[in-house]
Amino acid sequence: MASYADVYGNWQTDPLAFWAKEAQAVDWIKPPEQILDDSEAPFYRWFPDAECNTCYNAVDRHVEAGRGDQPAIIHDSPVTNSKTIITYSELLDRVSKVASLLSQRGVSKGDRVIIYMPMIPEALVAMLACARVGAVHSVVFGGFAAHELAVRITDATPKAILSASCGIEGSRIIEYKPLLDEAIEQAETKPEFTLILQRPQCQASMVEGRDLDWATEEAAAEPIGCTPVAATDPLYILYTSGTTGQPKGVVRDNGGHMVALIWTMQNIYNVKPGEVFWAASDVGWVVGHSYICYAPLLTGCTTVVFEGKPVGTPDAGTFWRVIEEHKVRVLFTAPTALRAIKREDADGDFIKKYDLSSMHTLFLAGERADPPTIEWAQKHLGKPVIDHWWQTETGWAIAANPMGIEHLPVKLGSPTVGMPGYQIDVLDEGGHPVEADTLGAIAVKLPLPPGTLPTLWNASERFQKSYLNTFPGYYETGDAGMKDADGYVYIMARTDDVINVAGHRLSTGAMEEVLAAHPDVAECAVIGISDKLKGQAPLGLVCLSSNSQRDEADIEKECVALVRQEIGPVAAFKKCIVVNALPKTRSGKILRGTMVCIADQTPWKMPATIDDPASLDHIAERIAGLGEAVG
Ligand code: COA
Ligand code: AMP
Repeated sequence: MASYADVYGNWQTDPLAFWAKEAQAVDWIKPPEQILDDSEAPFYRWFPDAECNTCYNAVDRHVEAGRGDQPAIIHDSPVTNSKTIITYSELLDRVSKVASLLSQRGVSKGDRVIIYMPMIPEALVAMLACARVGAVHSVVFGGFAAHELAVRITDATPKAILSASCGIEGSRIIEYKPLLDEAIEQAETKPEFTLILQRPQCQASMVEGRDLDWATEEAAAEPIGCTPVAATDPLYILYTSGTTGQPKGVVRDNGGHMVALIWTMQNIYNVKPGEVFWAASDVGWVVGHSYICYAPLLTGCTTVVFEGKPVGTPDAGTFWRVIEEHKVRVLFTAPTALRAIKREDADGDFIKKYDLSSMHTLFLAGERADPPTIEWAQKHLGKPVIDHWWQTETGWAIAANPMGIEHLPVKLGSPTVGMPGYQIDVLDEGGHPVEADTLGAIAVKLPLPPGTLPTLWNASERFQKSYLNTFPGYYETGDAGMKDADGYVYIMARTDDVINVAGHRLSTGAMEEVLAAHPDVAECAVIGISDKLKGQAPLGLVCLSSNSQRDEADIEKECVALVRQEIGPVAAFKKCIVVNALPKTRSGKILRGTMVCIADQTPWKMPATIDDPASLDHIAERIAGLGEAVG
């Protein structure tokens, strides 16, 4: 058996030979002769002369190979009290019909399609149907408000939008259609049509001539085959938070994406065809794209689509029930989900009720895995608990413990070591690698491996500015941290205005843009403060215009409502305080870091460059007034 050092060494010695070999796991229409095109560096393209179809590799080829009767998708939905199994043959039938109806309505290679759906199998059917016809999907998370959806419609200019009548959050029905209608109204460009899945829990009202009924259209469609696309053609755009209100459209290609994901299933997750893989995330996030939809299906696994929460649907044992019932081999979730379970089941009593013998490993990602949470899971599950670090931009793990190669010793607080394809360096401000155990900006040497973003949608300059300019020759991750003498990485903080709330990546800049639009607000700042459950939570601080006569408490409430209305409930923006002034340096920079320390009750020093020291004392008082809610 090769060791991690052997595999990583093989990649380092000859990266192109490494990926050429891994590319053999894909069924290509035209296999790659060239592995990497670096002629336009720092823009790189993997497998530039190859042709393929991602849907074919995720669905058709498994049916052809005799897996037709194997479950492809298990939909387990405690919120609707239902469980559904879709075999690979059934999936092929459904996907090829939805692809056909899209095609009949004029959706073809390169056209964009927005998918705004809850956690139901049709979300995967929609993604795969787009891939089948070579259309570029862009899934928008259901917890975003109409405005955020509108911004994405305007940027992606989709020909069609696929949605459902509602999502279900615990016991609440969230009607999607009114949000969709409002978003289309707000968007600068309109889709030609929408396809709406009417769920039994709620009937959406349809706009004549624009909205089509999913069930009727699918039933009437004749299956179609797969459209060949270039390996470098985009498979999807996934918008993620940047420093401003304008989200970044991360582009994923077809060929490199398949090669990378198949590699990860064997080598990181140690999962084989036929086994059950469960990523308890949402299709709206990158984890959902890579590990609910594409990677398990490309590998011929069974994927679990779970429509519920870690707690409250109905209890803190729901994850363990799903594992027992569906014989899940690997569970992938966010630390925040475990913290939610731990809070209700500190002694692991629910865990003891279920037979978890099928489960080999628990993987965590999306935010820093805090050691007490890992230790709790290790103790009560008695299974390896593996933290791994990645981003929407990379689509797969930058650092992990490669369980399919070698189970490296776990160091709590570290997502372990760089995966093949990633040379991770910790850099100082001048771009020079720092000594071991020294904090710095974490960067990855270019080119990034297959499966990572080739660019941002319609924004190649922003791509360069956001990721490539600061450290020439490197991709800037936006994370800060360190590496120890054994090469283990530690991810400590973001270097930008992105915060991580319940494993969801959010932009404080975007929230500030919303607050600044409130008529009584003259100036504002949003900071991420520690939250025991969600890791971080946003806190808004607003200064009022001198002529504002209104009650401060009313304005605080309005600000909270405004962020929910404009960005959505996912922002979890629940706290906002009116302050006299924002603390600033003499050059006018808002001292966000100092305010975070005050809120988190960590030691802080009065910055020497502060313009108005009294502003900090006042803020400390106001934050203390929030009491228990903080921290
Ligand atoms: N559609 C509509 N609303 C949604 C939504 C969706 N798909 N997802 C979340 N929301 C809403 C929630 O209902 C909540 O609304 P509320 O303010 O009215 O209560 C709000 O958005 C915030 O959601 P969330 O941060 O998820 O908090 P929660 O209290 O509902 O649940 C956890 C807390 C920890 C259980 C939950 O965050 C969780 O399971 N997190 C795992 C995160 C994850 O999978 N991340 C992906 C990376 S691996
Ligand atoms: P997203 O693009 O939403 O997946 O968020 C990516 C960001 O989440 C990273 O840049 C990190 O800041 C954070 N993150 C993800 N996984 C981890 C992890 N295992 N440890 C620490 N931070 C993480």
